[in-house]
Amino acid sequence: MSQQVKAVIARAKGAPVEVTTIVVPDPGPGEAVVKVQACGVCHTDLHYREGGINDEFPFLLGHEAAGVVESVGEGVTEVAPGDFVVLNWRAVCGQCRSCRRGRPQYCFATHNAKQKMTLLDGTELSPALGIGAFAEKTLVAAGQCTKVDPAASPAVAGLLGCGVMAGLGAAINTGGVGRGDSVAVIGCGGVGGAAVMGSRLAGAARIIAVDIDDRKLETARRLGATHTVNSRTTDPVEAIRELTDGNGADVVVEAVGRPETYKQAFYARDLAGTVVLVGVPTPEMTLELPLLDVFGRGGALKSSWYGDCLPSRDFPMLIDLHLQGRLDLDAFVTETIELDAVEQAFERMHHGDVLRSVVIL
Ligand code: APR
Ligand code: ZN
Ligand code: ZN
Repeated sequence: MSQQVKAVIARAKGAPVEVTTIVVPDPGPGEAVVKVQACGVCHTDLHYREGGINDEFPFLLGHEAAGVVESVGEGVTEVAPGDFVVLNWRAVCGQCRSCRRGRPQYCFATHNAKQKMTLLDGTELSPALGIGAFAEKTLVAAGQCTKVDPAASPAVAGLLGCGVMAGLGAAINTGGVGRGDSVAVIGCGGVGGAAVMGSRLAGAARIIAVDIDDRKLETARRLGATHTVNSRTTDPVEAIRELTDGNGADVVVEAVGRPETYKQAFYARDLAGTVVLVGVPTPEMTLELPLLDVFGRGGALKSSWYGDCLPSRDFPMLIDLHLQGRLDLDAFVTETIELDAVEQAFERMHHGDVLRSVVIL
């Protein structure tokens, strides 16, 4: 028995998204059907629509979601119907070398639901990042569901499923920001903003926010930045050095994904500092650096994929901190919208007007 629900799909490259009816199968072995309660609008959804990820149209968009488990398939023990869960991009295998070494973030045998959701005519849908949650209900692998405290609002919980986790994790997990550190964050959208917030949570003493948009710098202050630099008018590398007694920052988080900002991040760190690259470049981008500068610096240059998060450890912990009033995740929710307003939300995102629009179902 399958069921039909309302959902947002991208039917063809570049075409506006549309609200339509999709078919969600009953969960098979290891799968779960989740009643989606909230799903944030992320850049990656727009990338899918524009064909920037792959050509497997039609896509079922949405991947930053929280909801309640409706039903589970055979052999599922992780979650049960009624559980309030945050969805993540993929279930890890538990068997591969990385999993067995306790580093499931690097699992190379991740999986999503095996069955396919479809359009009414049977056309198979490609769910964005293996989720597809701009839908009243969605089918995922049970291992993509992480239980969190249901006292949290779905809008806030869903944020942990992508951008906010990527930024928080870039600072805390990948960058290892610690008490007293100086941190610079280049690019303060949703991801960079979360890196600012994570740095404050970790006890950083100086948090320097860099952006070319003053509105983003204002928000960054609210999220915990102690200093702001508009890099349209001020050289950010010089400014970061000045603000760190000439040393450079202990941790620099790059959350833009462009050659010039990668370069700024590289030169803005302390000689023993860490650069964390979380901004995603496009395939044609390259960066030229004098090898002596690469050789002549210690520290570390790291990229951060999904904030190096462990959903089972990080999602419940961050929700608990939020519920205790120690992590203002509400600050990321600029607006809540209905399912049929996703296209307009893309437009506002494109103009930098929002940190996050969140669809409430
Ligand atoms: N220097 C500094 N900041 C910049 C620059 C620049 N040259 N160009 C753009 N920005 C700022 C924008 O003003 C904006 O505030 O970077 C921010 C990017 O934020 P968003 O567009 O909201 O993107 P976000 O969702 O935060 O993602 C940032 O991280 O995970 C990746 O794929 C994601 O590459 C993207 C990046
Ligand atoms: Zn995303
Ligand atoms: Zn594995």
